[in-house]
Amino acid sequence: MHKIAVIPGDGIGPEVVAQGLKILNHFDENFKIEEFDIGAERYLAEGEIITNKMLKKLETFDAIYLGAVGDPRVPAGVLEKGILLKLRFYFDQYINLRPVKLMKAEYSPLKNKGIDDINFTVVRENTEGLYAGLGGFFKKNTDDEIATQEMIASRKGVERIIDYAFKVAQKSGGDLKVTLCDKSNVLTYAHDLWQRVFTEKSEQYKQIATDHCYVDALTMKMVRKPEDFDIIVTCNLFGDIVTDLGAELQGGMGLSASANLNPEGVSMFEPVHGSAPDIAGENKANPLAAILAAAMMLRHFDLQQEADIVEDTVQQALNENKMTVDMGGNLTTSELGDYILQLIKKEGGNDD
Ligand code: NAD
Ligand code: IPM
Ligand code: MN
Repeated sequence: MHKIAVIPGDGIGPEVVAQGLKILNHFDENFKIEEFDIGAERYLAEGEIITNKMLKKLETFDAIYLGAVGDPRVPAGVLEKGILLKLRFYFDQYINLRPVKLMKAEYSPLKNKGIDDINFTVVRENTEGLYAGLGGFFKKNTDDEIATQEMIASRKGVERIIDYAFKVAQKSGGDLKVTLCDKSNVLTYAHDLWQRVFTEKSEQYKQIATDHCYVDALTMKMVRKPEDFDIIVTCNLFGDIVTDLGAELQGGMGLSASANLNPEGVSMFEPVHGSAPDIAGENKANPLAAILAAAMMLRHFDLQQEADIVEDTVQQALNENKMTVDMGGNLTTSELGDYILQLIKKEGGNDD
């Protein structure tokens, strides 16, 4: 029995998470699910973001399933840092795993690139880099104002994320290449450390092919030659940016799922997209990213068969052109969730 804490969050978060929960509830003999009211509404009503008591309670769960946070009524960063980054840091979820996989050729925004070309994984460092929050203001709101924001690269932090990327390659049978993405031609301290650790790890995992790209060239290559990538390992900020590009390569933000992993602790599963205030409350958001994030959670629990069923079913729905408006379809969020659930029930021979 796995205990899952659900944080629907803001904007389209609750709408898409509700669809993922329909599917998790279908496999309910495996789970105990509890929802947490954390997000903009609570902050606006009570001034509370996430309390130590909540964090302590969340510690007792096996995983967290999150929708999205962020609300135009709240200053930028309050909820993003106060909830999402807080959870990633508190639970030391140092791996942000973001698969980029084109599921249907016609979704490719790239001419002549199909499902065999767009299929790679970004392994994003998730607890340090420019996200560490170090820095501050000096003489704020004066003409002499200075603002600093420091990039943190610890040997431990860099070693464990690069090691994880090599392990992913190794697990796949060893024929996947690991590409380091950095900016070591400019960030000659922080990314020099990344370079040195990457060289050390490639000596340790001798049988695994390696490559290197500066981040600017990487974005170029993601568009021009995405087939060149298998596993990209990179720092927190670059990982954030290149995975939105990756999401578009696979058809859009509505399809892109992610896992924030701590192999020894509480991991968190969420779509890559945000709270999309521009379409919130309209029942038109694409729930597939949230559903695929739920599948990643199933895989994390070693429920491989269940995860396969969810992914195959999403594939089938796409093949049948059952989609929300962002993908050119005409289903609502809940209709697509219901459709996926119905396909899953058929798969299991259970038609009720
Ligand atoms: P966003 O991902 O919310 O939206 C970008 C664009 O993609 C919008 O046009 C939106 O309508 C569309 N979109 C996103 N998800 C979609 C879906 N499932 N179906 C259909 N269309 C979808 O990014 P943003 O607009 O930059 O940010 C909005 C808010 O979300 C901000 O407060 C931001 O800080 C926050 N945010 C949160 C997370 C998170 O919680 N993980 C991630 C990114 C952004
Ligand atoms: C993401 C988001 C977050 C990030 C924000 C909302 C803090 O963009 O999960 O990609 O930058 O990591
Ligand atoms: Mn992002």
